[in-house]
Amino acid sequence: MVNKATRPADPFIGQDLWNIQLQNGQLKHFLTIEGLGSDMLTQILDTAESFAGVNESVKKVPLLRGKTIVNLFFEASTRTRTTFELAAKRLSADVLNINISTSATSKGESLLDTLHNLQAMQCDMFIVRHADSGTAHFIANHVAPHISVLNAGDGRHSHPTQAMLDMFTIRRNKGADFGGLRVAIVGDILHSRVARSQIHALNTLNTGDVRVVAPRTLLPKGIEQMGVSVYHDLQEGIKDADVVIMLRLQKERMSGALLPSEQEYFQLYGLTEETFAAAKDDAIVMHPGPINRGVEIASSIADGPHSVILDQVTYGIAVRMAVMSMTLGHNGKREAQA
Ligand code: NCD
Repeated sequence: MVNKATRPADPFIGQDLWNIQLQNGQLKHFLTIEGLGSDMLTQILDTAESFAGVNESVKKVPLLRGKTIVNLFFEASTRTRTTFELAAKRLSADVLNINISTSATSKGESLLDTLHNLQAMQCDMFIVRHADSGTAHFIANHVAPHISVLNAGDGRHSHPTQAMLDMFTIRRNKGADFGGLRVAIVGDILHSRVARSQIHALNTLNTGDVRVVAPRTLLPKGIEQMGVSVYHDLQEGIKDADVVIMLRLQKERMSGALLPSEQEYFQLYGLTEETFAAAKDDAIVMHPGPINRGVEIASSIADGPHSVILDQVTYGIAVRMAVMSMTLGHNGKREAQA
């Protein structure tokens, strides 16, 4: 476990969030990987493993029957929103999808007013995606005590369930010992909440070698301090890698011209059969999606035998079921004690 006393304040949120997501050592909210120990991450992966079987055969379990879960997405999403919805339904919860563009928030109702109205409908969980870093934490700080908040992506800051489904995918393919693994994360690290959460998770699980590969303009300053080695050359960066994680150019978060052109980017950083040959023979290729074919990844790689990109989507359901049941299960226990 990270020592609370030595842990720096979260640079994105501007306050130490250590205590918010854990209550009595249990997961109450799931907002960020930071501050969670390898025991907690392993518990999430093990719980997800037990649900992966449910998805393959039984389809539904009654664990969250009677609970109401609200998908509150202020930013576009396909995979994340739908897999959260499927996860909730497979746990027998009721799910509300709030479409922000047609909700009262777009008529000027404040975020807190919207939340208070949803709370008045006896909801138990908010799943939040927002373009601003820190929104899920803000909400977690303001909801009624029985509600759990899950972060489905906040600005460039954090996307913890994505990181955990990525860890699940790596564990399924490469085994539980991350110590011997070399993992390379390639692309737009600067704008990527996924990369940040992955780096925290990989380091917490004691991954042997975590690398980031990107042009200088797409790397945040001081990224080395997160415990990664930095490469600017693709083939050098993915050399002998066990896992290659590709990231999309997140143009919606870019201000100014950070790249000469997509064609040039593909020539230098695109994963093709030729460049991928530098990785280990049994390397897997991952991508959180959405993928941009011919920009960061060639179709022959995205659809090829080393790609586990669609498995990531499938595993996302089991991982989200795990996090939902762990956070709401904890609430159930608290209610029973009260
Ligand atoms: C990612 C996101 O939204 O941060 N996608 C996802 O959740 N599957 C990555 C991205 O948008 O490129």
